[in-house]
Amino acid sequence: MEKDKLKSARLYESIYSREISPAERPVFHLSTLVGWLNDPNGFSVYKGEYHLFYQYHPYNTNWGPMHWGHAKSKDLLHWQWLPAALAPDQEYDNAGCFSGSAIELPDGRHLLLYTGVQSIADAVGREVTRQIQCAALGNGVDYQKYEKNPVLDEEDLPRGGSSVDFRDPKLWREPDGSYRAVAANMTEDGSAAVRLFRSEDGLHWVFDRTLVRCENRIGKMWECPDYFALDGQQVLIVSPMEMEAQGLSFHNGCSTVSMLGQENQEGEFVWERVDSLDYGLDFYAPQTLLTQDGRRILIAWMQRQESCRCQPPGAKWFGQMTLPRELSIRDGRLIQTPIRELERLRKATLHWSGEISGSFTIPGVQGRVTDLTLRLQLGAYHHFTIQVAADDKVHTDIIHNSAKHTVTIDRTFSGFRFDILHRRSCEVHSGAVELRLILDRFSVEVFVNGGEQVLTSTLYTDQSAQGIRFVCDGTAKVELEQHFLEV
Ligand code: FRU
Repeated sequence: MEKDKLKSARLYESIYSREISPAERPVFHLSTLVGWLNDPNGFSVYKGEYHLFYQYHPYNTNWGPMHWGHAKSKDLLHWQWLPAALAPDQEYDNAGCFSGSAIELPDGRHLLLYTGVQSIADAVGREVTRQIQCAALGNGVDYQKYEKNPVLDEEDLPRGGSSVDFRDPKLWREPDGSYRAVAANMTEDGSAAVRLFRSEDGLHWVFDRTLVRCENRIGKMWECPDYFALDGQQVLIVSPMEMEAQGLSFHNGCSTVSMLGQENQEGEFVWERVDSLDYGLDFYAPQTLLTQDGRRILIAWMQRQESCRCQPPGAKWFGQMTLPRELSIRDGRLIQTPIRELERLRKATLHWSGEISGSFTIPGVQGRVTDLTLRLQLGAYHHFTIQVAADDKVHTDIIHNSAKHTVTIDRTFSGFRFDILHRRSCEVHSGAVELRLILDRFSVEVFVNGGEQVLTSTLYTDQSAQGIRFVCDGTAKVELEQHFLEV
């Protein structure tokens, strides 16, 4: 009975994924093999290859009892799906295998650490849930749940820590070979704390300390924490729920923030600045890994909870990951740039420079799978708009407002059939602006000024909308470089 759930998921995905042709998917962004995908999980290097798991409900395109889907890659761009890795098939995870992380153990096994959600009937028959941390061990394809699960439960939490909201362990190895993990935990004030745990072997875990408490200052429950050192700073990334907007930041109710800071003498993390990690419409629950050549790479669920109803009619799959991004710190702020491996997909390049005014097209500039950079000399205009994925009916707009110093993404006319908000903006520095747009059939990611800000949005318009056009209410001096990418 227990094994059957994983077997059924593997059988189901092997049959129904065949109904989705490669042309119906993004080219280099990982999408779900079939059904539904949310958070990236277990982003790790195992036996020299990148492995990425994901929150997965194979049976339809909506969130449901969580499994772990699985894929691997040599370059973070070409992904090979592997059979589903985990199914909610034990008493302690009967309501779902929620998010978690992975690492290669010195003995060659791949360790997964995930949140088991257990549903239990209380004394009067009401359903209550509890979230516990569990391990599974495998060989890169097949995983066995650890016989002594859970490895962490409510007994390990300090007073006031909720047993209902205790999830998303992210683990790493310390230089001395021991392990640490951070996990999200709701606190007695209805907001959250990041708890830090330690282990000698990855399987026996104890509570170490509370790293930082939200105290209702940045949203409420903090989902999917990730914590690492980068260029001399400590970085904490969390996805707070019920976030309140401030200026142009934190507009998605389920938002994602980066915090830069340091640990104090008590080992508590003290943040010095908090920023939106992405200013677009679709970005949540990121996870990072450290590559063998020392780069910190981030990947996120390219969707947000509030717009999940925006599926294209008749969708056979729903859910994709962002392009992996390299993280660094420049002038005290977190910078994100597309992974350099993307350059290997370039097959032809077009250069153009000149003045743009009114409605404008450039011969040859078009396409839905492309890497397009525009350098705008601050000129005599208020609005400079790039329309991508455009035809007579639809277009997705990226707008530079040179008076307000903002960049906006607007997908009002991107074919969505739900009247939800379709516009988001971020502040950019004054002066010349560089916009790098990565398009991959069903998404656009806009990297502003070398990755100071990013705006990410999915778009599910027909692939026949290949146009790229420009509209300027004055005159803009533009240098353009378009790389056509391998399909
Ligand atoms: C974030 C999240 C996680 C949880 C998972 C469940 O999107 O809610 O906190 O582990 O998704 O699918």
